[in-house]
Amino acid sequence: MTSLLVTGIGELVTWDDEQPVRRDAALVVEHGKVAWVGDRAAAPTADAVRDVAGAAVIPGFVDSHTHLVFAGDRSAEFEARMSGRSYEAGGIRTTVAATRAATDEQLTANVARHVAAMRAQGTTTLEIKSGYGLTVHDEARSLAIAQQATPETTYLGAHVVPEGSEVAEYVDLVTGPMLEACAPHARWVDVFCEDGAFGADEARAVLTAGQTAGLVPRVHANQLGHGPGVQVAAEVGAAAADHCTYLDDADVAALADAGVVAGLLPGVEFSTRSPYPDARRLFDAGVTIALATDCNPGSSYTSSMPFCIALAVREMGMTPLEALWSATQGGAMSLQRTDVGHLRVGAKADLVVLDAPSHVHLAYRPGVPLVAQVL
Ligand code: NIG
Ligand code: FE
Repeated sequence: MTSLLVTGIGELVTWDDEQPVRRDAALVVEHGKVAWVGDRAAAPTADAVRDVAGAAVIPGFVDSHTHLVFAGDRSAEFEARMSGRSYEAGGIRTTVAATRAATDEQLTANVARHVAAMRAQGTTTLEIKSGYGLTVHDEARSLAIAQQATPETTYLGAHVVPEGSEVAEYVDLVTGPMLEACAPHARWVDVFCEDGAFGADEARAVLTAGQTAGLVPRVHANQLGHGPGVQVAAEVGAAAADHCTYLDDADVAALADAGVVAGLLPGVEFSTRSPYPDARRLFDAGVTIALATDCNPGSSYTSSMPFCIALAVREMGMTPLEALWSATQGGAMSLQRTDVGHLRVGAKADLVVLDAPSHVHLAYRPGVPLVAQVL
């Protein structure tokens, strides 16, 4: 079979400039790519036909920020937070210990389990970071495992300073032998720029060393308080500054001026009872937003993009259409990908068929499994 006509589409979201959302549409897939999009009545013939009976069809979600290579969980920490304790970056070390103790097979199986859950919820492209190994060996094997699941792998040796190390000596390791071992397995370099993790100078050193090794920077910025992360991201020309929970006007301007994508991760605010960032403020300033899960056992243990869409609409001031855009096209822009995140002619045919007539239902019916099929 070389071509497939998907027809009977009640609502088709392509993000085409002229008609981003179509009614009563059809789409032809050829060799894994979108070959034709148009009105149902004008659809060409194809080798096979699938009628989706009025359902909405959207691009597969692009989850541009996850930490899937880990072992263990931190439900006790979550439970304590829900009784009033605050989130601390130091909890990462609990997962580091569990991850180091796990075998490659266990870590690979964990990643596969989470990737399968994501796919069932409509995610067709995802990024995976290291960052729970924090030794040369454990960071490199984390990335090698991540690479089996996605080409979008991120070296996050600079997640926190591991127990028993000094900051300066650890930054030397991260920018030296660890980078050398990890760069062949990674496309991106990331740093957690935050009080309790790495400061501006250290973040700059990590990101520029990564750039020299051929990696493209992205930053964990302004998550726990107002810090220098966003400014450093703009300075080094990072693809993305993720979290952006605490921003001042200069940060918003820096993101817009430098064309850095702001990654908003509402699962984190949900799970840490933090204030949600204001998406409207970013959109109004012309900042591109990517919505992602940040799936990790500490600050956001969800693999569900539909859940993040619902939170972004309810808590961050997005419209349902803006949230869907941010979860697809925005995610693709965060990962500097032009082949995914949309369904214009030429795109990878990553289609999600909803058990609903419109994308609005993703936020309107939170927690309901609305992803009927992932093609
Ligand atoms: O994106 N901010 C740093 N890293 C993760 C949290 C990791 C953890 O708590 O285990 C994050 O929120
Ligand atoms: Fe993260």
